[in-house]
Amino acid sequence: MNAAPTRLAVLVSGGGSNMEAIAQACRAGGVLAGIAELVLVLSSRAGVGALERASRLGVPVSVVPSASFSSREAHEAAVLETLAAARTEVVALAGYMRILSASFLSALGAPVVNIHPVPTYLYQGAHGYEHIWAERARLACCFPTVHRVDAGVDTGEVILYGLPYALGDLESLDALRARGLAEEHTVYPLALRQFLRSGDVPGDSPHARFATLVRSWLTARRAGLDAELHYNGLALPCP
Ligand code: GAR
Repeated sequence: MNAAPTRLAVLVSGGGSNMEAIAQACRAGGVLAGIAELVLVLSSRAGVGALERASRLGVPVSVVPSASFSSREAHEAAVLETLAAARTEVVALAGYMRILSASFLSALGAPVVNIHPVPTYLYQGAHGYEHIWAERARLACCFPTVHRVDAGVDTGEVILYGLPYALGDLESLDALRARGLAEEHTVYPLALRQFLRSGDVPGDSPHARFATLVRSWLTARRAGLDAELHYNGLALPCP
């Protein structure tokens, strides 16, 4: 007998395009069908596009506006309560513009996963696309990261990387963001699938192979080897 789908909540603060990709992937025929059920979209801001998207998709929404709370602790307590009421088993951050405290993570008692627009080994924090755009003269490509959330900022264990895309043809920051988000929308559902079904994404899939390549390369570099890694003719940004 198949296990019941995992109860997934997605935390948002903005446009919600990754949330929509996850919601679509949970539907029949999607890579998360039968694996995850999107039970709640929780926003830290009222009036954002993600809420409109979630309503259109028929997903329950809740707004817990950080601006209405006097402290981070009070806001996190309200978020915890809302997630518990939805019987959340896994949390996915998708453009959630709040840093979760260590006490929130331990009180939650459910794993938290996040997507970052760029390799987390290269750059952590907000405005990832702006950073890449400013550095484009010395970078051949970029790719997103899906990782476990720990108490640091974008320091958690990597689950999967998106596949690299060339920066050379992109003529504006908006074009970079659009290209990057397309890759984010592919890799986030795949990474959730791999995480929820521990390694269910076939090891010979391009994403799983690429993640293995990057992991060994980073280990070699940390050990002092000055090696470069190329993928489909693109030199990866060095840490
Ligand atoms: C995405 O690009 C995501 O990678 C980024 O916020 C955007 C949300 O877009 N997250 C971070 O920068 C986290 N460090 P969306 O609301 O359209 O999904």
